Amino acid sequence: MADIKEILSDMTLDEKIGQLCQYNTQEVVESTAGITGIDENLGLTKAQVDSIGSVLNFANAVEMREAQKKHLENDRNKIPMLFMMDVIHGYRTIYPVPLGLGASFDPELAYDCSRVAAKEASAGGVHVTFTPMVDYVRDARWGRVMETCGEDVLLNSRMGAAQVKAFQGDDLKNPENIATCVKHFAAYGGAEAGRDYSRVDISEQALREFYLPAYKACIDAGTTMVMPSFNTINGVPALANKFLMKKILKEEWGFSGVVISDYHAVDDFETHGYTDNRKENAKIVFENGCDIEMCSTVFFNNLKSLVLDGTFTEEDIDKAVLRVLDLKDKLGLFEDPYRGASDKIDADEFLTEENRAVVRRAAEECAVLLKNDGILPLSKDTKKIALIGPLADNKEIIGFWACMGKPEESVTVKEGIKKLLPNAEIEVAKGASYIWGENSTDGFEDAIKAATNADVVIMCVGEPQDYSGEGKSRAHLEMPGAQEKLIKKIREVNKNIVLLTFAGRPIVLSDVADDARAILHMWYPGTEGGTAAANLLFGDANPSGKVSMSFPKSTGQCPVYYNRTNTSHPKSIEDEDTYLPFHSNYIDCGNLALFPFGYGLSYSNFVYESLELSRNEMTKDDEVTVKITIHNDSDRAGKETVLLFMRDMFASCVRPIQQLIDFKKVYFEAGERKAVEFTIKEEMLRFWNNESQFVSEPGEFRISTGCADNLILTKSLVLK
Ligand code: NOJ
Repeated sequence: MADIKEILSDMTLDEKIGQLCQYNTQEVVESTAGITGIDENLGLTKAQVDSIGSVLNFANAVEMREAQKKHLENDRNKIPMLFMMDVIHGYRTIYPVPLGLGASFDPELAYDCSRVAAKEASAGGVHVTFTPMVDYVRDARWGRVMETCGEDVLLNSRMGAAQVKAFQGDDLKNPENIATCVKHFAAYGGAEAGRDYSRVDISEQALREFYLPAYKACIDAGTTMVMPSFNTINGVPALANKFLMKKILKEEWGFSGVVISDYHAVDDFETHGYTDNRKENAKIVFENGCDIEMCSTVFFNNLKSLVLDGTFTEEDIDKAVLRVLDLKDKLGLFEDPYRGASDKIDADEFLTEENRAVVRRAAEECAVLLKNDGILPLSKDTKKIALIGPLADNKEIIGFWACMGKPEESVTVKEGIKKLLPNAEIEVAKGASYIWGENSTDGFEDAIKAATNADVVIMCVGEPQDYSGEGKSRAHLEMPGAQEKLIKKIREVNKNIVLLTFAGRPIVLSDVADDARAILHMWYPGTEGGTAAANLLFGDANPSGKVSMSFPKSTGQCPVYYNRTNTSHPKSIEDEDTYLPFHSNYIDCGNLALFPFGYGLSYSNFVYESLELSRNEMTKDDEVTVKITIHNDSDRAGKETVLLFMRDMFASCVRPIQQLIDFKKVYFEAGERKAVEFTIKEEMLRFWNNESQFVSEPGEFRISTGCADNLILTKSLVLK
């Protein structure tokens, strides 16, 4: 353990401020190498550059080592830099995008995947990952929905906490563990109209119930860092928002780790129209508890004068610096500034068979079977396969935030099927483009030819992997290009169509759902995507994913989500899909999602037989056991995610018509029948009331299972 107070006592104010500044590696490397880089770009002095505390994004462990070495030669205090990166769904071996991971409903799987990422990232020289992202989302137009685990707060909380535990392990000194930074605090997912960085207007009730709990779950799981979001909340940028940054994060939750701004967020205040000078930005942000500024120069240029003019004391600066030094110490950087970093660009830890096996399992367990009339699984004796579509033989299936993952290292669907069925005749045709605005039908002829005499047509369609992610909002959620047209043309010559859909978000499939006999949504599945697709199509794997975010019938429905409240009209879920005058329904589209939250089929046949409560009444101190008996009425073993929903029938604040309160993913042998148990406690029945408290109110609660919009086996529970 280093004596960080002793180190601090030797530092000048300028050097302390350096610890609170982070820049891109190119600038640091070039500058430390003596080439003018950062100085010219950002107007910083050599002394400032030498004192920098952390680095954002870098190529590999060799570059990291080089930069660290040069920095240590130049820094008078010999304080190692922290190297941070966005390791979102894998470092080099890539697993499905987080929205896909959410569809597994399996925090243990999230844990296993994150362990793979942690070990690889650590070998790549990473000390901190900007993950998990647990922004609550309801609008599939927002490109960043791919980074969350879905539209439910409980699901996001459990998946987020599992990721924190996996990345950080029990001891950050262990070089195979890296620190996490939960983001984006808070409510970035509420961006108006799904446009990235857009304003968020939100009630405290919505914030407390839906948006905040997942960040809190990650803090409770021990995340070392927090990143506030870019957006304004009720008119105030998150970083400037005292209610969020001070009252909630520091006072209520007692967060004592490091807070880092998002990229240039500190100098964005002017663009927002919030402040007109950067000294003011530095004052607001630092006062609000932001320790590190990412990439802009507001701290470097203003913190010192804020100390000199008496706004802050040097002790204020010290507290922030100590938090940063403490993190460095926890990571063991003072003992070994290169902790875990390989001395090779391609470390031995990358892409091992073991890692590939984990991400393959993940890709299989995250895929959601949206439709199946019995055509799937396909027989392995299938002779002639037409493999059509822009994603049929495409390596770009690893997803947007694939970090150091390389498309050329991924398995395409064609490669996956070829490996599984070496003797099958596979004819591949791209058929159409998946790029917005590229509507040429020139490829149709080849595709039709391939499909005409095939036993089955597997169509790999969707949106390009870079159509989701930061700054990737869409106003049209249908598949881009001439893909829908292509599907219809193929259907004229062959009805045995299986759609494999790829997207980083829910897409609109209404116009093609009837044209296909089966639809398997792969999300962006990662390095082993093609192998997983083949295993699922031909029955070596059994689909078990469930929809983590509602698939709209039409983009105009967005935001469409399951835990909505009833309006006074309509009165029931059934009413919502029929046009009735003077109802809050659309004239030209139903209200319900095409595939709602929690929906997903399997090759097993899970029959929900009964739901029993251990009692029908409870007091605030009681617990009630729920037993749901399920029979796997099939000759195939499989996994089923059992969802437990509740509805508080009447309350002083109108409650959602369905709300997930627990879930379990359970394995069933073929033919097995078993009861899955849950415990209901009073705290699960609470909500944020108009007097700013979490409370439960006496009255009737309905307890159900099934999936959203299709609740079954409902029982009544009365809270006394
Ligand atoms: C901006 C993104 O909003 C954030 O999620 C990311 O961690 C940082 N850039 C760093 O890359």
